Amino acid sequence: MKPKDCPHFKECGACDFRLAFPKGQIKKKQEYIERLFKDYGVSPMLAMDDSYFYRNKVVRTYKPRGKRGFLSGIYEKGSHWVVPIEHCLIEDEGAKQIHKTIHYLVKIRGIDVFNEDTGQGYLRHVLVRAAKATGEYSVTFVVRDKHFPKLDGFIKALRKKHPEIKAIYLNPHKRRTPVLIEGELLQVYGKGPVGDRLLGLEILLSGDSFYQVNTKQAKRLYELVMELLAPREGEEVLDAYCGIGIMALLAANAGATAYGVELNPTAIADAREMKKRNDIPNVTFIEEDATKFMIELANSGRGMDKVILDPPRTGTTPECIDALLTLAPERIVYVSCNPKQLKEELPLFEDKYTVGRIYPLDMFPFTQHVETVVLMSRVDK
Ligand SMILES: C[S@@+](CC[C@H](N)C(=O)[O-])C[C@H]1O[C@@H](n2cnc3c(N)ncnc32)[C@H](O)[C@@H]1O
Repeated sequence: MKPKDCPHFKECGACDFRLAFPKGQIKKKQEYIERLFKDYGVSPMLAMDDSYFYRNKVVRTYKPRGKRGFLSGIYEKGSHWVVPIEHCLIEDEGAKQIHKTIHYLVKIRGIDVFNEDTGQGYLRHVLVRAAKATGEYSVTFVVRDKHFPKLDGFIKALRKKHPEIKAIYLNPHKRRTPVLIEGELLQVYGKGPVGDRLLGLEILLSGDSFYQVNTKQAKRLYELVMELLAPREGEEVLDAYCGIGIMALLAANAGATAYGVELNPTAIADAREMKKRNDIPNVTFIEEDATKFMIELANSGRGMDKVILDPPRTGTTPECIDALLTLAPERIVYVSCNPKQLKEELPLFEDKYTVGRIYPLDMFPFTQHVETVVLMSRVDK
């Protein structure tokens, strides 16, 4: 299938560059980043050789249709209407097959689909995650409560068709929320999270902790961050907003004493387990708000040699930046999936830091999003 042949491009809200071929997308994204960061140097985009089927996290929302029917698909952009998806250019193919089987099982087993208006029904969303290097998959069912009808039979049938599924979770909640998974995650099949491999590390993927959706490009992102950060033995490195702690683990592997701070308890639990499984003793993970942690660190009078900042789309906070400036690490590597936000925050550092080149990376082909990385080096007066 070529980009222009995508049968869902008119309704589906997942892509915005559906009609453009990869080369055209890269050109447009590069121009955009150069315009936005016109006062800084910009490197050529780190693009993918093959930008199809990269998404390792594939979601389907279930909606009732008519008296007894239902559909499963992706939300239309800006609406709560669901578009059924047959083909997709960006989703992992294995995950898509698993979703097809789940749709079929929901139908023949008569599982009720949740109705947001009435609060009746059971199944809300299904999230499939692919560990690209190991070929393992996890499935999370977002459901009204934990009483999945005839769960054992459902799991047996699903696993019979897809033995590659190594972990299944239920996430029971009724809240209307833009965040798909909220509250407790109950593992109903498998022992712990599925495992992937990246840059020599064993990676654990729970149902809801953050993992870059494009595994190939995540590898390049982490390589770039490590190159810019250049962590060394005898140095202390802080990975703020560390998710499952991959960059802290890589910095520790390079000999530094590393710390990772993150708010999501599942991600921190995975990070601690990864520390054990990868046998990396010189790293500590802290479950804490990054701003609070940074302020406490700055007030303690302790130093930090190098810091990685990788906040969510909303960016970090002015208080976190203030504390970071007091801490005054020699290098700060800022990773941002929201270049506009990064552009607004850069001037806050410029009294004390030299801002290096902006490195754009195409983490999300067929969408307008761009990942950006920048190294800031302390000006020693
Ligand atoms: C863009 S992700 C980066 C994850 C990680 N650095 C990686 O490469 O996989 C942002 C992370 O920040 C976490 N987060 C969001 N708000 C936070 C806060 N106030 N304090 C600490 N972590 C937070 C999210 O849970 C998420 O894991």
